[in-house]
Amino acid sequence: MITEMSFPTRIVFGKGALREVPNNLARLGVKRPLLVTDGGVVATGIFARLTSVLEGAHVPFGAFDGVDPNPTGATVDRGLAAYREAGCDGVVAIGGGSPIDAAKGVRLLATHPLPIAQYDDARDGWRLVTNPVPPMIAIPTTAGTGSEVGRSFVVTLQETGRKTVIFAPPLMPSVAVCDPELTYDLPPRLTGATGMDAFTHNLEALCAKGFHPLADALARKGIELCGRALVRAVRDGHDEDARASMMIAAITGAAAFQKGLGAAHALAHALTPIAGVHHGLANAIVLPFVMEFNLSAAAEQLAEAAAALGEPHGDDQDRLARRAVDRVRAMARDAGLPERLRDVGVKQDQLPVLAQRAFEDASHLSNPRPCQPTDLAALLSAAF
Ligand SMILES: [Fe+2]
Repeated sequence: MITEMSFPTRIVFGKGALREVPNNLARLGVKRPLLVTDGGVVATGIFARLTSVLEGAHVPFGAFDGVDPNPTGATVDRGLAAYREAGCDGVVAIGGGSPIDAAKGVRLLATHPLPIAQYDDARDGWRLVTNPVPPMIAIPTTAGTGSEVGRSFVVTLQETGRKTVIFAPPLMPSVAVCDPELTYDLPPRLTGATGMDAFTHNLEALCAKGFHPLADALARKGIELCGRALVRAVRDGHDEDARASMMIAAITGAAAFQKGLGAAHALAHALTPIAGVHHGLANAIVLPFVMEFNLSAAAEQLAEAAAALGEPHGDDQDRLARRAVDRVRAMARDAGLPERLRDVGVKQDQLPVLAQRAFEDASHLSNPRPCQPTDLAALLSAAF
């Protein structure tokens, strides 16, 4: 079997790293970036911190602050119009996964003429990504999606209402500027939900089918970091070590999930557009049930996860694997997150369409235990 593995992102990491943005723009040859963000990041004052760094370095820029919580094709089109109107030659995204994803869409469409749906990964759209795309700096303000080191973005297509993955290696940000200080004032609930997204990436990547020992090593490290830091970051947002650890766990998770994800993400990709559940929260709720479902197929990996979470080695593998499930339930609970879909606005009559949509999502194809529509329906009922 022949496998390809690569981890090429340039990452500038550390408290105060935001100051390094002008240097990195100069290295990339960008003279006038478009700043891409959303109203939430503007309201926190973080966007103003970025603009003052750029103004201090005399870097002119355009700005698009209209990214929606779950970006659509129309969001990307508006960003592209702002890019062209301001005569930009690069993109700086600052925010959670949504602004970073939307910015990837802008750089794609800046040099590729087809409608965005044509680049859908489900129809091998990456083959159409043939031109160079403008340079991009990604600055995460949450520790969750890891989109800052990822080669894909998720966009909801108006035509279908589906969350659609666009994947292509050139979409990887040129530089990720990861400054944990930008996450200090993230509210506890969002810290918990985004942190569980990062955790789920690490855990599903470790358990995913396929051969990728580099991804496995990163995933184990990410699981360990979340186990040590997630609840601490929720309880004390200014715990510097916890915030830095979670930012690393987000990076390891996204680098690791090139190996694959699993059924939790297939379910989450249905729960967000249909029932409006936050992506990280959806993962947090369904993950323990998916882990139970996977016990028979991924006991070894789940036992490794238990060890990374601090369970003593040496116990029987199956028992250790079960303890991983208990640990994850306890972590989400201690992070203050709800445990049932009914607690986050999901209605029982939505379960059949959720199962159907989850089955259509490619994420479950790498789940260690094959998923039939009835399995996904049973997982939703259990989590309800
Ligand atoms: Fe995710």
